[in-house]
Formats: sequence, C-alpha cells, structure tokens
Amino acid sequence: MILLAPSILSADFGNLNKDIEMINQSEADWFHVDIMDGVFVPNISFGFPILEALNKKASKFKDVHLMIAHADEYIQTFKKLGADSLTVHYEACLHLNRTIQAIKSEGLKAGVALNPHSNIHLLDDIIEELDLVLIMSVNPGFGGQKFIENTYKKIANTKDLIIQKNSSARIQVDGGVNINNIKKLADTGADVLVAGSAIFNSENPLETIKSFKSLAV
Ligand code: DX5
Ligand code: ZN
Repeated sequence: MILLAPSILSADFGNLNKDIEMINQSEADWFHVDIMDGVFVPNISFGFPILEALNKKASKFKDVHLMIAHADEYIQTFKKLGADSLTVHYEACLHLNRTIQAIKSEGLKAGVALNPHSNIHLLDDIIEELDLVLIMSVNPGFGGQKFIENTYKKIANTKDLIIQKNSSARIQVDGGVNINNIKKLADTGADVLVAGSAIFNSENPLETIKSFKSLAV
C-alpha cells in the first residue's frame, strides 16, 4: 500500500487545528512535519511549540523531516513532543551512523534524506539500518517548488539497492508531488508520498487526498 503524508508546512497556521482535524478525518496516512533551521536550509519553518500543538490533536503517525544542523541534540525532545519517526539529512550529519543509532535507541523509526544532487550509493553502508529513505524531489527549504524529473531514475536505483542489501527501508518522495505525477511515482517504486501545496492549496483538500490515494495504489 502506498502511504500519503500531507506536509503541514502548507497548512494554515492561523487555524492549525482545523487542518489537523481535516487530515485526521481524511484518507491520508501520516502527518509530514518539516523542521527548518535557517542554517542547513535557507528558510525557517517552525519549532517545538507547533509540534506540541500538533501532538495534542493529530491522531496519525508523525513523520518528522529534519532540515537542521546538529540534529543529535534534539532527538529526545522530538520524541517527547510526539514524533514517531525522525528523518535526518545525509548532507547535514557528520556522523550519520551515530545519529541513526541514537534515533533508533529512542524507539523511533529512522530515516535519511538525500538532496537532489546526492547519489543513492552514499547510503550503501547504512541502508540496512534504515526504516526510510527520503528522496528529495526539490531542493529542500520551501513548499510549492517544481518537481525534479531525475527523481524517477533515483527511485529505481534506490529500489535496486534496497533489494540488493535486503533492507526493509521504505522509499519516500518529497517535493512537487501532485495529481499529474503521483501515479508514475507510485508505479516507479515510491512507498510514501509527501504532498504539501498540492493538498492545502486545492479547493477541497479532503477530495484531493482521496483522489491521490486512489491514483497511488
Ligand atoms: C520541502 C519540504 C517539503 C514540502 C513539500 O523542503 O521538505 O516537505 O513541504 O511541499 P510541496 O508538496 O508543496 O512541494
Ligand atoms: Zn519534507
């Protein structure tokens, strides 16, 4: 089954409970939570107080995508605030194996994200440890960007690597996912699809989620 993870980066923060409730009621599977620090990426999204608010209302798995430096320092706090999985960036972690072990030792699912320019074979020696590989299909930092077409090739290569290494990691794709590419992404081998603007900027987010789920099977 393909999982759909709406990114709350595109939600209405003046009325967050309404958007959380919408996702709770919808056919979506996870909440995707983008944390940006203005250091690793050229944008600052939101931090712990929003996560705390989300945790009070959200009834689904919380998939936290960390676009931050020094992720190790915050693992326990993210756990305390309800994160179910933590995904760190390959490009932001000097001691990636240590960081992944630290996430797993807290009982959380562990993922690694790769920027568009980073080759999947950078994960050759860690993929067996991972629950998730996040392939960025835009440069991280902003919602609403254009999907990078090279992603399809990267998904196929990731799939090959997962089979070769007998890893149980899921393949997640994040950035520019929309009604026109969601089926091809699923057919190419993506297991979890993140969508922000395509859901929250649509006229009827509930219906959009429904059609995304029916296309990506
Ligand atoms: C971008 C974030 C994405 C973003 C996706 O750095 O990681 O999760 O919210 O937004 P859309 O779906 O609008 O490209
Ligand atoms: Zn993300």
